[in-house]
Amino acid sequence: MTLKSEALAVMTRAYAPYSRFQVGAAIRGASGAVYRGCNVENVAYPEGTCAEAGAIAAMVAAGETRLTEVYVTASGPAPVPPCGGCRQKLAEFGAGDVVVTMGCAGDAELRMTLSELLPGAFTAQHMGD
Ligand code: THU
Repeated sequence: MTLKSEALAVMTRAYAPYSRFQVGAAIRGASGAVYRGCNVENVAYPEGTCAEAGAIAAMVAAGETRLTEVYVTASGPAPVPPCGGCRQKLAEFGAGDVVVTMGCAGDAELRMTLSELLPGAFTAQHMGD
């Protein structure tokens, strides 16, 4: 399966009764394995989690902490950009040149690197590490 088909498959599992906006994320770990996540909403709205966060959690739980490729897709008409928080979460585990492909219900796709999505990212270097 391609990263795109993995993201589309997991998108159908989204729990999104409040926004009705389904999101699926597939990330490739450095080992080559693929990890998937969907958005999981909650009646207490701020407790909901994004698809990217779910995929990252699956990757870390499997013992990997580096990602090399990301595909995010959603049920809307235009390629879905990761939210600000997810850009920071992805940047924790991926280099600046990692490509994030954004898909949607149609055929349109948008590709950007993590550096383009999060210029001037806050990193461990800023803490003097
Ligand atoms: N959502 C994601 O899963 N990822 C993003 O990067 C953008 C937003 C979800 C959260 C919420 O369940 C729904 O989309 C509407 O904001």
